[in-house]
Amino acid sequence: MTQILNIRTAPHSAGSAAFTVIYAAEDQAPTGAAAAIWAATGLEWAATSAAGAFRGRPGQALDIIGAGGSRLLVLGSGKPSADAPLNAWTDRGGSLLAKIAATRASMAVVVLDEATATPQAIGELVAGLRLRHYRFDRYKSPRPEDAPPSLTITLKVSDPAAVDLAIADRGATVDGTLLARDLVNEPANVLGPVEFAGRAAELARLGVDVEILEPEALEKLGMGSLLCVAQGSDRPARVVVMQWRGGNPDAAPLAFVGKGVVFDTGGISIKPAGGMEDMKGDMGGAAAVTGLMLALATRKAPVNVVGVIGLVENMPSGSALRPGDIVKAMSGTTIEVINTDAEGRLVLADALWYTQDRFKPRLMINLATLTGAIIVALGHEHAGLFSNNDELAGRLLAAGLNANEKLWRMPLSPAYDKLIESKFADIRNSVGRPAGSITAGQFLQRFVNDVPWAHLDIAGTAFGAPNTEVNTSWAPGFGVALLDRLVRDFYQD
Ligand code: BES
Ligand code: MN
Ligand code: ZN
Repeated sequence: MTQILNIRTAPHSAGSAAFTVIYAAEDQAPTGAAAAIWAATGLEWAATSAAGAFRGRPGQALDIIGAGGSRLLVLGSGKPSADAPLNAWTDRGGSLLAKIAATRASMAVVVLDEATATPQAIGELVAGLRLRHYRFDRYKSPRPEDAPPSLTITLKVSDPAAVDLAIADRGATVDGTLLARDLVNEPANVLGPVEFAGRAAELARLGVDVEILEPEALEKLGMGSLLCVAQGSDRPARVVVMQWRGGNPDAAPLAFVGKGVVFDTGGISIKPAGGMEDMKGDMGGAAAVTGLMLALATRKAPVNVVGVIGLVENMPSGSALRPGDIVKAMSGTTIEVINTDAEGRLVLADALWYTQDRFKPRLMINLATLTGAIIVALGHEHAGLFSNNDELAGRLLAAGLNANEKLWRMPLSPAYDKLIESKFADIRNSVGRPAGSITAGQFLQRFVNDVPWAHLDIAGTAFGAPNTEVNTSWAPGFGVALLDRLVRDFYQD
């Protein structure tokens, strides 16, 4: 059963609680508002911390049950430092949630020290609480040992109104990340192209303009590359166009494009059975774009943005695409299909061309669980970044560091581009193992028409990455926080 998490703020003057959490820095008794709470226990600091082997290091905790059953949890905050990066606060929030959850409490009061915890820092802390609290358990039957149905965390702060604003602002981005997680975690029998498009259509309530293109319209546009992937599936393709107009009406939009393969069997070039269930997550790029649109609209970001997602299912059947088939993309480029499992680039070819052709965007960024090869190169720590524009690449790298969704730049060049030439058509969709992620990037670049563009290969980061302080779900919602950060820091009017 999903536990409901309520987060509230209150001034320090609010009454005392049965369960209180305070922080103590390394080798230091609690200070500020926490000092009075500690003093009320009547315990002697040096003796108690020594008895609990508590030195105030991050991750350390001292759990004190008072005579009346009241509970005081002292958490280590490490060496005091005024210039901790913001994402250290997100991690601290994640760790705090885990500590509180382990007590099975249904209510806790956390006292924050105004000396270091700015409203923005507390916004991050709350983001961390919510991100760590997330579970995808809607298909698990309730069990008696489940945690209490709700958990209310009250943050005692010096300026609740300012903190509430910071929590709401950062919370919009969290909402987007959690939507992306839900979409990626959802099994493909529940979330097909039509159902995914339906979830995107719900953004209309936030003021996002949502258009859903059906196969007939895609056919008319000439999207032979995207459509050929869907042709083996009983479930029809969809392209969803989401527009948020929060900026100057004449400003060219930023464009985000997502690979949305709701399930990738590989098609006729079928994948081996081991781990194939993970391919329900092959729509992680589309999920990130949808989550980003939710975040931007929720926080009413002053910027014009368009999100385009290509939704298909890659199945083998009597009507499926074959190796050797030649298809024509919307751009006019002909593509020889060497491997039907290299389907993501076929979807993106038309989604990218359509996006630049219709919207003339200021820049275009696509996200895709595109290649197994990027996992060989970078594991689950960094997503691959490919770009035709150094300024854009630099900004993305910086945003990734700040959001703790890290990127690593990979090369593109004419020598790699040459590899995708085909014997029978203009280009081929698969080349072979060497530089597999780069040749996929070169393929995409054929469809961006010189717009400043970046491709994020998120095959290693969209699902199945190790747990972190802020994520214990299979799907971390990678990309939403990163792109929201990029927009905030560089592109808002
Ligand atoms: N969706 C896969 C890539 C993938 C693999 C994502 C593992 C996440 C985890 C993609 O469609 C694919 O199958 N790529 C092939 C390309 C090859 C046939 C050129 C791959 O990586 O093997
Ligand atoms: Mn594939
Ligand atoms: Zn795929």
